[in-house]
Amino acid sequence: MPISHLGHAELLVPNVEESTAFFTQIIGLQLTEKHDGQAYLRGWQDWDHSTLILTEAGEPGLGHLAWRVPTKADGDQLRAAVEERGISVSAIDGGSVVGHGDAYRFITPGGIPMELYWEVERFQARGAQVSRLKSHPNRVPLSACAPRRIDHCGILVADVQAEQEFLTDVLGIPHRYYVTGPDGKRWGSWLSATNVSHEISLVPAATGYFHHLAYHIDTPEMVLRAATILIDYGYELEWGPGKHGTSGGTYLYFREPSGNRVELWSDGMMIFAPDWEPLEWTPEIAEVGRSMWGEEYPESFSTGTQLAGSLVASS
Ligand SMILES: [Fe+2]
Repeated sequence: MPISHLGHAELLVPNVEESTAFFTQIIGLQLTEKHDGQAYLRGWQDWDHSTLILTEAGEPGLGHLAWRVPTKADGDQLRAAVEERGISVSAIDGGSVVGHGDAYRFITPGGIPMELYWEVERFQARGAQVSRLKSHPNRVPLSACAPRRIDHCGILVADVQAEQEFLTDVLGIPHRYYVTGPDGKRWGSWLSATNVSHEISLVPAATGYFHHLAYHIDTPEMVLRAATILIDYGYELEWGPGKHGTSGGTYLYFREPSGNRVELWSDGMMIFAPDWEPLEWTPEIAEVGRSMWGEEYPESFSTGTQLAGSLVASS
């Protein structure tokens, strides 16, 4: 399996200052660096330089979604597999990006701007951020709902099954569970290269959209606390707090100030078996799968922000 894990997401934000302040002051992400209309952030136990890049742009959306592979040879192997499907792949010079080395970028058949990279810059804490605990890349933040790490990304695509098959068959990302609709069509698919329940989810829409980026926080109680914090500071909740039956994850969805949907998420199942067979959620149980506790599904969830691929170079 050449892909190691989901590494980072670049979100496009019309107001980089406001979005950066929201993610750091309200949510509790850690700022690594900020310059030239970009901010680089991470959860407090994300080991890499950054897991979220905010890039100033006219419209909100996903700039790219990046996956780490172990070596350049693995990247080359995946590049060839992607090109074999008739998709052009751009080579990115590591000197032109922050936080990682050379990379390949391409747009999936469903419109997702993907990146593969193999060398990464580790986060280095400085000054009062330095923890004496070797397991802490920086001290535990004092904020009440500070995420520990990046978790997953959600995408709306026109053809869920075709996109899942591309991600699994070409990129090698295992399929974990899926929802079949009353029409017999695929209504959703969840995939992960690691043992978390999913690192990417696919649900259907007329056209491709970025749906959400999720960060993991330690306990369901912290998800409830986050809901209170968001309301107290004047933000709206979009869906939740609630519990997905499919993964068992406790969820809370809301929009950051530039309009991108964000999820805070806790607990949920993990997968260890190398011979895992994807679980099918059939129509009679799909509602419980979506929301175990019966939280009403918001109409607004059928859309998202753009899948932009802003940084896909022509080189
Ligand atoms: Fe990147």
